[in-house]
Amino acid sequence: NFVYFLRGLSFIAERIKEKFDCEDVLIIPGDSDRDETVKKQLGREAAAYLRSCLKSGDVIAVTGGTTMAQVPKGMPHLTGYEDVMVVPARGGLGERVELQANTIAAELAGRLGAQYRLLYVPDNLGPEAMESIVNEPGIREVISLIRRADIVVHGIGGAEEMARRRGLSEDVIRQILKNGAVAEAFGFYFDREGRIVYTTTSVGLSVKDLKNIRKVIAIAGGSGKAPAIRAFLKYHRPTVLITDEGAARKLLEIE
Ligand code: BG6
Repeated sequence: NFVYFLRGLSFIAERIKEKFDCEDVLIIPGDSDRDETVKKQLGREAAAYLRSCLKSGDVIAVTGGTTMAQVPKGMPHLTGYEDVMVVPARGGLGERVELQANTIAAELAGRLGAQYRLLYVPDNLGPEAMESIVNEPGIREVISLIRRADIVVHGIGGAEEMARRRGLSEDVIRQILKNGAVAEAFGFYFDREGRIVYTTTSVGLSVKDLKNIRKVIAIAGGSGKAPAIRAFLKYHRPTVLITDEGAARKLLEIE
């Protein structure tokens, strides 16, 4: 029955906590690869978790993606967070507008009644153009806000899928895969041991900054994403992993 089922999920959560040394693991029943409503639930759960750790004056940095897009949608309209700031974690990474971190930051701020700043940095700039853009006062201000983020909410993706979705060239995709990439997060690609094997040129938060952030909320589900989640968890242990049953069961299976 349902009570046994939920106990089963909390048993799985405990085992994932131990295996990956996470502070917290939350598991939504179902598999978002098979059922879109599970992704909505992931968004709702992440929104509730975010609310529970939000303090006055916090800076929240968010990434993009279809899972992250459900976080603002899962957040009720609130008041009392006028002094909270929401920013995108990184500049343009080639996502469609609805899935961009900028869009999600603005929507989340709208739900919280919070402030937001956006980052307008085009993709794939050469080093010189990048250098001059990041020195623009308006952009510098946003980057410094991002660097002092108190909370980060981010998605995790499969390497090949994300490389294609972000429009990397076939040559680069081949190279990334040859280097063993299985996961992507924040524009960084990781092999199965959690080593960075490729980095997209962009500005903002680096995965290397994650260790200095008070709460890192990782949200990713779907049985097909388990290898990517596993690889990323080897790189960084988030405060909480919010996932679904499909991914969670697979995470325990793979060695
Ligand atoms: C984004 C991250 O939040 O989500 C990416 O910036 C990640 O690093 C992606 O790969 C995953 O997208 P989706 O659509 O599978 O949730």
